[in-house]
Amino acid sequence: MTAIDSAIRAAASEIKLAAVTKAYDAKTVVIPPMDVTLRPGEFTVILGPSGCGKSTLLQMIAGLERVSSGKIIIGGREVQDLEPKHRGCAMVFQNYALYPHMTVAENMAYSLKVSGVSKIKRMVRVEAVAKMLGLADYLARKPGQLSGGQRQRVAIGRAIIREPGVLLFDEPLSNLDAQLRHDMRVELADLHRRIGATSVFVTHDQVEAMTLADRILILNKGTIEQFDTPKAIYHSPASVFVAKFIGAPPMNILGVTGDGSVLRTGDGQIVAHCEKKGRFQLGIRPEDVIVKAGGPITATIRYREDLGSHEILEADLGGQQLRIATPFGAEIDAVSTLSLSFPKNRLHLFDGDTGRAIPQSFEGQDAIRQPVKEYQ
Ligand SMILES: Nc1ncnc2c1ncn2[C@@H]1O[C@H](COP(=O)(O)OP(=O)(O)OP(=O)(O)O)[C@@H](O)[C@H]1O
Ligand SMILES: [Mg+2]
Repeated sequence: MTAIDSAIRAAASEIKLAAVTKAYDAKTVVIPPMDVTLRPGEFTVILGPSGCGKSTLLQMIAGLERVSSGKIIIGGREVQDLEPKHRGCAMVFQNYALYPHMTVAENMAYSLKVSGVSKIKRMVRVEAVAKMLGLADYLARKPGQLSGGQRQRVAIGRAIIREPGVLLFDEPLSNLDAQLRHDMRVELADLHRRIGATSVFVTHDQVEAMTLADRILILNKGTIEQFDTPKAIYHSPASVFVAKFIGAPPMNILGVTGDGSVLRTGDGQIVAHCEKKGRFQLGIRPEDVIVKAGGPITATIRYREDLGSHEILEADLGGQQLRIATPFGAEIDAVSTLSLSFPKNRLHLFDGDTGRAIPQSFEGQDAIRQPVKEYQ
């Protein structure tokens, strides 16, 4: 661990939002009162659709946007009225915003220069950070002479050089191509393991969220839908909104009616046994649907997509769309009608109106899901 690694690790701060709101006017409430605590050293990914308030939240933490009310407490200090530079946060944006006329070294050292750090100390820190990020050979280049991934690393270097206790990222990888995104994701995960700054990372990309986060915060119109580990978000989504947001393709959601013993789809098919009565939304992930001769549920194939490693079948179940992901090697005949079964420990039940999850609705359902072994 370098001196910079340990300095940042030591500075990792808790971030606490207490009844924080943001409204542009009475009609434009972007964040209704929000209470949340991010632990020191934790990597939080904020995930949500466009316009749900992700950047607003990040910028309020950084101090680039004022809170309308409430408190932001970083490392035990109330910071909502402090200038950004006094909050101990560093931010990395989507458009790297590097100074084009400065070299890599000058870009990285700029904030230290402005805060009066001596030239010798600046050089030592730039060298340490450049080494950490694999930029040691590029220090004399200008940003225009670098690849996208290298530029993004300079932007990260510029953020961490001040040894912040909090690192904020707003879609930092979205300008990169798929391969570079993957490489940078691995690098970011590694960087976080080493320096352990409390990190908040905004993205649209659920793969980034699943792979980088200690906990994912799912935001819907400025409100927290769920804040939990990637596993919990995937296996026990708290609402239909969360269920549809994670997984590719996302979880199937079927409208069903319960008569006190079974759940039926609109065409009268029994899809599960359950003692609840009323209208519900039943969730099952495409990879959890079992295609099996003699299965009790019948659906018609509308479309097949062969992705090489597996196939996605798009089917019609009583007028509702059902996607099925077949495992590698499964041969599905060129039939148009499928027999299916829904394993009960892979089902999710949601309220028909609010979409909130109703846990453990199925008799004998395991609290922790077991892998499905059977496939024929
Ligand atoms: N100055 C402003 N006046 C009024 N509304 C604003 C202003 N700035 C942002 N908003 C609104 O606040 C909401 C949240 O914006 P924000 O930029 O935080 O969304 P986001 O989740 O980051 O979206 P994206 O994924 O598209 O970046 C949006 O509906 C936006 O229109
Ligand atoms: Mg944004």
